[in-house]
Amino acid sequence: MPGDPAARLAPLADVRVWTEARHPSAAELLDLSTGASVLLCVNGDHIDEAFLERSPDLRLVALASTGYDSIDVAAADRRGVAVTNSRGTLYETTADLTFGLILAARRRITEAERYLRAGQWRQDDLDLMLGSDVHGATLGIVGYGQIGQAVARRARGFGMTVLANRRTPGDDELSRWVSFEELLRESDIVSLHVPLTPQTRGLIGERELRLMKPTATLVNAARGPVVDEVALARALREGWIASAGLDVQVVEPNPDPNALLLQLPNCVVLPHIGSATLAARVAMIRMASDNAAAFLSGSPLITPVGSVGAARQA
Ligand code: DGY
Repeated sequence: MPGDPAARLAPLADVRVWTEARHPSAAELLDLSTGASVLLCVNGDHIDEAFLERSPDLRLVALASTGYDSIDVAAADRRGVAVTNSRGTLYETTADLTFGLILAARRRITEAERYLRAGQWRQDDLDLMLGSDVHGATLGIVGYGQIGQAVARRARGFGMTVLANRRTPGDDELSRWVSFEELLRESDIVSLHVPLTPQTRGLIGERELRLMKPTATLVNAARGPVVDEVALARALREGWIASAGLDVQVVEPNPDPNALLLQLPNCVVLPHIGSATLAARVAMIRMASDNAAAFLSGSPLITPVGSVGAARQA
């Protein structure tokens, strides 16, 4: 982990570190954390009811991630285990990557680079890699939290019209609130920024993709399961929409070079690098270790999620 959280926490606790380059399995994580009162972990670690049941000494899960769908927070609450995330550390960084996906998908940047590297660029054709403009387009943002708003700020520089859909209706200086259906119908680019919850799982499926324009681009820098990938693959193959830019997939990590979406030239797929700058990753880990340090020294938690953590907030 960048930022060396172990060194930071060493004066406060007996710290055990997973030192292998590969991620621990659930059993290995359980073994490592046996008897520990604090677990500092990442999005790929699944802390579910079974894990919590076998960790009776655990009192805090400090997650170095903003999304906390990998943690069963309700189960943690029932067992008196506090949970913290690392919100506030990656909004701008993830918004940057979202714009990278928008540009890559609409201007066919990764596809064009593959073509060039394959030695296929032999003549200058005026119809080479024709894409769609980003400037002046209508951008629909689904989930208008901190990341969605950071994307809207960038859209202003591109002269875009911004539509936003979130639970609480209301316009702001950057965007106009519209219903989910109107957003799908009207947007040239639909960008997803919702957390993964039972309500957002499968939010974009066949019905929603068919509502979008045939020239539209879908961007997902949130969580893979928000989109039905089988429906998306059909949409991209059959032209219900024009392109997609995905930072996330249903199965992560996914080393399969034959994965469904990788077969489609009009789909840009990245290995969940939305927050992957050194500065953002150090900030995420620092937030997790600050929460752990606060807990160990009896201070209020900084970024709790769930009711047990909230009871210990400043
Ligand atoms: C987050 O913080 O939610 C990022 O997606 C990395 O897990």
